[in-house]
Amino acid sequence: MFQSILFYALFLVCVPGEKFDPKKVDYCKKKCPFETPIMSSGCNCELRGTRSETDLDKYMEFRKVVIDEHNYLRNFYASGKETKGSSKAVADMLVMNYDVELEYLARCYGRSTFDGYHDDCRMLHDDRLTAQNLGGLRFKNNSLSLIKIHVEDWYSEVKDMEPDMYEKFRLRNDKIMTGHFAAMCWGSANTVGCARIYTSDTIKDKFTKPTMVQALICNYSAKGVKGIVEGADERMFIQGPPCSKCPPAFSKCNSKYTSLCGELEPIPTDEPYDFDNPNGKPRDKPRGKPSNSSKICGKSTILILASVLSMFF
Ligand SMILES: *[C@@H]1O[C@H](CO)[C@@H](O)[C@H](O)[C@H]1NC(C)=O
Ligand SMILES: *[C@@H]1O[C@H](CO)[C@@H](O)[C@H](O)[C@H]1NC(C)=O
Ligand SMILES: *[C@@H]1O[C@H](CO)[C@@H](O)[C@H](O)[C@H]1NC(C)=O
Repeated sequence: MFQSILFYALFLVCVPGEKFDPKKVDYCKKKCPFETPIMSSGCNCELRGTRSETDLDKYMEFRKVVIDEHNYLRNFYASGKETKGSSKAVADMLVMNYDVELEYLARCYGRSTFDGYHDDCRMLHDDRLTAQNLGGLRFKNNSLSLIKIHVEDWYSEVKDMEPDMYEKFRLRNDKIMTGHFAAMCWGSANTVGCARIYTSDTIKDKFTKPTMVQALICNYSAKGVKGIVEGADERMFIQGPPCSKCPPAFSKCNSKYTSLCGELEPIPTDEPYDFDNPNGKPRDKPRGKPSNSSKICGKSTILILASVLSMFF
């Protein structure tokens, strides 16, 4: 049973060379297994109210800022240079890569039901759940440098981490926030995808937080590696000399971010899914080159095969 689930996951995650295509996934059949099951945000992507997306015209620059900033801070943290929040070096923190499915789901949520707070069910095509960070601005300004500031804000919560929280993560309380830091610095969080949403009339759109006029929504997931990002009572990472306990499929230290494990993949060049033109006719400008997914696939293949084999022997 478990084996077949793994093979199924392998099939879904890793059709070599195949690009992410939201039309091939029925997100409306994906429900989060809560007491009252909730539909995945990918089920509903319709642009509603006064919401709009920004940055679609400069998606490569947008993705690059997101990746650079996350990896810069993760590497700084893992190296042991962070002095706040009882921090120590991390032995198994992975380098982060950009994921277009995570981006797609962040966009769906932002376009349709985002109301200043997190969505409840972020489920991927292979049923992995994801963690999410949200940063807001009271006015419109789509300067890319503000992305850096949002990510730094999330990171700055490190000061409120307590020693036991690394081994068994818990949230503190409503006033002292550490969840954003935990999501972006979770050891196994090796993929991220984000969207930026501008809502011109947050009152009309009944926002719970009307000040979130512009929002950066980022989703994180652990791809091809064990671990639930920001799971309650889960271990965030293993403390120890940087890169000394990298998981098998990510065993090499990164050459650029030398305290992180695994390879930095090229940023996917896939154009953001065009909701207004779902049958995929290119817009005026040429489409990006096909993304290179073979490497990621290679890794997850090895990892999943290894887990299947370990069950037989
Ligand atoms: C990412 O977040 C968006 C917004 O919350 C959500 O709709 C989507 O389900 C999440 N995406 C993934 C891949 O989890
Ligand atoms: C937008 O933000 C950037 C970066 O903080 C700033 O330099 C710029 O002046 C801002 N633009 C507006 C119109 O406020
Ligand atoms: C994809 O990655 C493989 C393996 O690293 C490489 O040989 C190939 O040239 C790459 N293809 C493209 C289109 O970048």
